[in-house]
Amino acid sequence: MPERDHGLTRRRVLGIGGALGLVATTGLSTAAALARRPSSTGAELRSAVPLPPPFQVPLPIPAVLPPVSTDGGVDRYVITQREAEAEILPGLRTPLWTYEGVFPGPTIESRRGRPVVVTHRNELPVPTVVHLHGGRTPAASDGYPTDLVLPARHATSHTGHGMHDPRAVVTEVTRDYAFPLDQRPTLLWYHDHRMDFTAPAIWRGLAGLHVVRDDAEDALGLPSGPRELPLVIADRAFAADGGLAYPSLDPTLSERPGVQDRYFAGVLGDVILVNGAPWPVHEVDAARYRLRLLNASNARHYELEAVTDDGRRLDLVQVGADQGLLAEPVAHRALPTAPAERYDVVIDFAGTRVGDRVRLVNRLGSGRARDVMAFRVARRAVDDSRVPRVLSTDLPTWRQADAVRVRDFSFRAGRTHGGHGWLVGGLPFDPARTDVTTGLGDVEVWRLVADVHHPVHLHLVGFRVLSRGGRPPLPHDAGLKDTLSLRPGEAAEIITRFDGYRGRYLFHCHNAEHEDLGMMANIEVV
Ligand code: C2O
Ligand code: CU
Ligand code: CU
Repeated sequence: MPERDHGLTRRRVLGIGGALGLVATTGLSTAAALARRPSSTGAELRSAVPLPPPFQVPLPIPAVLPPVSTDGGVDRYVITQREAEAEILPGLRTPLWTYEGVFPGPTIESRRGRPVVVTHRNELPVPTVVHLHGGRTPAASDGYPTDLVLPARHATSHTGHGMHDPRAVVTEVTRDYAFPLDQRPTLLWYHDHRMDFTAPAIWRGLAGLHVVRDDAEDALGLPSGPRELPLVIADRAFAADGGLAYPSLDPTLSERPGVQDRYFAGVLGDVILVNGAPWPVHEVDAARYRLRLLNASNARHYELEAVTDDGRRLDLVQVGADQGLLAEPVAHRALPTAPAERYDVVIDFAGTRVGDRVRLVNRLGSGRARDVMAFRVARRAVDDSRVPRVLSTDLPTWRQADAVRVRDFSFRAGRTHGGHGWLVGGLPFDPARTDVTTGLGDVEVWRLVADVHHPVHLHLVGFRVLSRGGRPPLPHDAGLKDTLSLRPGEAAEIITRFDGYRGRYLFHCHNAEHEDLGMMANIEVV
């Protein structure tokens, strides 16, 4: 395995005032935007409470949710969405919006092709809708932003601030979401997807993991059991009263969407949580571990690196992408990770000494946001895990020549009805407009171009990256993806096949603030 370092040179830290202001208002050219490529897009919200030292709190592992029934070959779950309090920063109580009272929500464990039905019950004060990110899901259960579940306490059947969607299917209090999970095994995540209010809802805690496995993956011999760790990385900021700070225009999240102007390009927190704990530490054996990474941050990008206290970097050996196993492992010294991306990596602590500490750091972060978490090597141990040279042989091999059409989409700041916002192809999101009509089974090439960072996500399908900036994809673009990190001024080409189900789906930027401020569009599979 070649060792590759794809860290960017010339990276400069610009506040978004800088990056976005230049791009949006003075029409900075693509080349100039590239030269100034900022490390992140968004503005940092500072906590108003003292922050704890790093690497003190043990890493929590989200509990696996037991099914309420497995009858008839279907796993059934019930999840109640409700307000709860948690002690995230030591000694402080933080009110959250949760799935089942915990943040992250409980993890669902599934087998490929075994259907799952999740009954969600909304006991929150606002409408909600759940999307299983990365799921190959029939449209009725895909969590379209206007398919709301109204809370019991909801006074009227009013579902937002005037965006009328005749196709919306609105239910009261509960809704069953059916997931066939007929797809490659991988790490999925479920999160709120309500029109205009996704970013603050995720920020308040509405996110959880859903793992899909199969026999072929189990047989590979990758590290497992206590040596497989889900790591949900998310930044947050805390207000003086211990609550989460977020610059919503309407803190009740019921009427007026949007954030204060300064945070228009994205909200970054100054506290890094892993599985809901600030800068946690985890005791490990001197052996291989499989890390199932999810960047659940609204806007923050990470470039993760594992460094020992004496300055040695450990390889992050990638075995899987958003949509499951790679064909073969790819070793990274540093791993760029955009919002909503998942990376499946193996790290080997065998070369460390008992007592050593290995920090996971974010090369793009500054100040407290540079640290992510740490591992403390506690003991020597036998290790019968392996990382096979061949991981999977079922990756799609679509070629440019298979495409029946090519589409171009720009992802840029621009004017919307509400003032300024974020646009796909020059337009803000409108549920009533079909942006893309495609035939079931059609292979398409999409060319995407960005002004600032935009992690572009497609519902329903996985895609492969064909090129970036006219060049071959980067090492971490390998495999099958559902979210692509477009960097400032960058153009990329992806290829996919729209199969699975017919119906209305979405593609959007997964910078959650951009998504709420218009950067979303419709796909109709016919
Ligand atoms: Cu993570 Cu449209 O979703
Ligand atoms: Cu999704
Ligand atoms: Cu964006």
